[in-house]
Amino acid sequence: MINLRLFSGRGNDGLAERISEYLGSPLGQVQVVDFPDGEISLKLLDDVRGCDAFIVQSTCPPANRNLMELLIFIDCLKRASAQRITAVMPYFGYARQDRKDEGRVPITAKLVANLLTTAGADRVLTLDLHAAQIQGFFDIPVDNLSAEPVLSAHMLSLDLGPLTLVSPDVGNIKRARVYANHLGGELAVIDKRRISGEETKAMAIIGDVKDKTVLMIDDIIATAGTVTKACQIVRDHGARQIIVAATHGVFCGPAVERLSAASIDHLAVTDTIPISEEMRKRLPNPTVLSVSELMGEAIRRIHRHESVSSLFMK
Ligand code: R5P
Repeated sequence: MINLRLFSGRGNDGLAERISEYLGSPLGQVQVVDFPDGEISLKLLDDVRGCDAFIVQSTCPPANRNLMELLIFIDCLKRASAQRITAVMPYFGYARQDRKDEGRVPITAKLVANLLTTAGADRVLTLDLHAAQIQGFFDIPVDNLSAEPVLSAHMLSLDLGPLTLVSPDVGNIKRARVYANHLGGELAVIDKRRISGEETKAMAIIGDVKDKTVLMIDDIIATAGTVTKACQIVRDHGARQIIVAATHGVFCGPAVERLSAASIDHLAVTDTIPISEEMRKRLPNPTVLSVSELMGEAIRRIHRHESVSSLFMK
């Protein structure tokens, strides 16, 4: 069997280290250079000829730097004769522009798929893609894992009592249902309208949250407009406690202020995006759960040609 080689970009080197520990495979040595004009260059310090290469890179903020760095990394590995290159993207940025729902707008998720493939990626491994159908933008294999087992295991360790799973918008209902199947409880959904990139309006709630623990499930918290507006509505409708769970904590713009001002009892996110100690202190009662074992195990199975879907299919 060819050698597995694991590399990390600068998007989430903490998670890459944890994946490396899980696999017992050290991170490959790379020299990254930022030129004064903003261009990036890198040089592999190890021989990768004929190897099975995995690059861990979340395309989180700074999104453009991290995406470009990933593309350059892939190009570098390809030119150094790696046999197979897998882009491991715990957070797949640019995914929310995934359709042309008005005139004169791009489809960036498709653009990123084209860029990765053109650069030379042979596979993509990711987690909770904003929309599962983005897999169809690729003509190479894409494994889209789910963080649900990690977040649900944490929820089961809490005292939840009577539970309602709330989707903060209609797009997330399917995701909330997966949690409901595992944790039990009823389902509710918020009718949300997006006003701009930063502003949303929660219009109404369908479902019962009175005297319940609300577990609000989202894939991404970016500016936190969506979840905080939804929290306001469930609180107004008599929720007893509010727990917010999301896979990807982007936490940009006014997110931290909004979350700390919202009456959230507990916040759980995963480590697909690094969260500084300083930010952690300002978030409402946060827990950051690691997906390193999940992603590490998927890498191990891809390398050994074993089933990956059995990691998330019930
Ligand atoms: C929307 O479709 C997503 O699932 C998230 O709800 C949204 O992207 C979160 O963005 P923000 O935190 O800026 O409202």
